[in-house]
Amino acid sequence: MIVFNDVSKKYSANVVALHEINLTISDGEFVFLVGSSGAGKTTMLRLVFGDLIPTKGSVFVDDWEVNKLKSNLIPLLRRKVGFVFQDFKLLSDRTVYENIAVALEILGRTKKEMDKRINEVLEIVSLVGKANYFPRQMSWGEQQRVAIGRAIAGEAKILLADEPTGNLDPKTSWEILKIIDKINKDGTSVIMATHNVDIVDSMKKRVIEIYNGRIVRDEKKSKYS
Ligand SMILES: Nc1ncnc2c1ncn2[C@@H]1O[C@H](COP(=O)(O)OP(=O)(O)OP(=O)(O)O)[C@@H](O)[C@H]1O
Ligand SMILES: [Mg+2]
Repeated sequence: MIVFNDVSKKYSANVVALHEINLTISDGEFVFLVGSSGAGKTTMLRLVFGDLIPTKGSVFVDDWEVNKLKSNLIPLLRRKVGFVFQDFKLLSDRTVYENIAVALEILGRTKKEMDKRINEVLEIVSLVGKANYFPRQMSWGEQQRVAIGRAIAGEAKILLADEPTGNLDPKTSWEILKIIDKINKDGTSVIMATHNVDIVDSMKKRVIEIYNGRIVRDEKKSKYS
């Protein structure tokens, strides 16, 4: 479960990205986060990932208050919460296998356990046979799938996806969405920030709309606007 309790985030005295956000997302939910550029979507996702600290209020992931986690517990949070960045953030000098392995090495897995899990992950993201490719040898959609694989490799309970279809054509966007939907159906909660009207309208999921750092709409089975 994810809870935002009166969360505000100021980047500086005159940049207030979020105002007193209250929100609960239950286990297994699929939520689209929508709103114009600068509304505060990425800020919300980064707060859940423990990558930013709220200026006021608290963010909880299950019974952990993210903003009070000691630094040695952050890797455990990141095992529970996977983040897919819009620009992938793949390591360009590492293969697909190695990019996904990074997420498992910090969990202290043996080589045998890693091989097994990475094969499972490659299957989930439809990249079987591409373990030894480097990011530059792959299309954008394939690289996005590697990023999703890395995010879920530690058996994440929560997947945060920040505009995962932002740079993709409609067909590839749907391929990515299908993979994320399958991950959700297998039990992982998903929060996906997106500007993709077609996907949001077709999926009929919970939609949270942010405007100038405030929640202006939170509806089940909803549409982009
Ligand atoms: N590191 C930062 N330092 C200062 N201001 C920031 C920082 N990151 C974001 N902001 C500001 O906070 C506000 C919210 O930004 P955020 O990135 O959360 O928006 P967003 O909804 O993700 O937008 P987009 O759709 O363009 O990705 C914006 O006004 C932005 O300029
Ligand atoms: Mg953003």
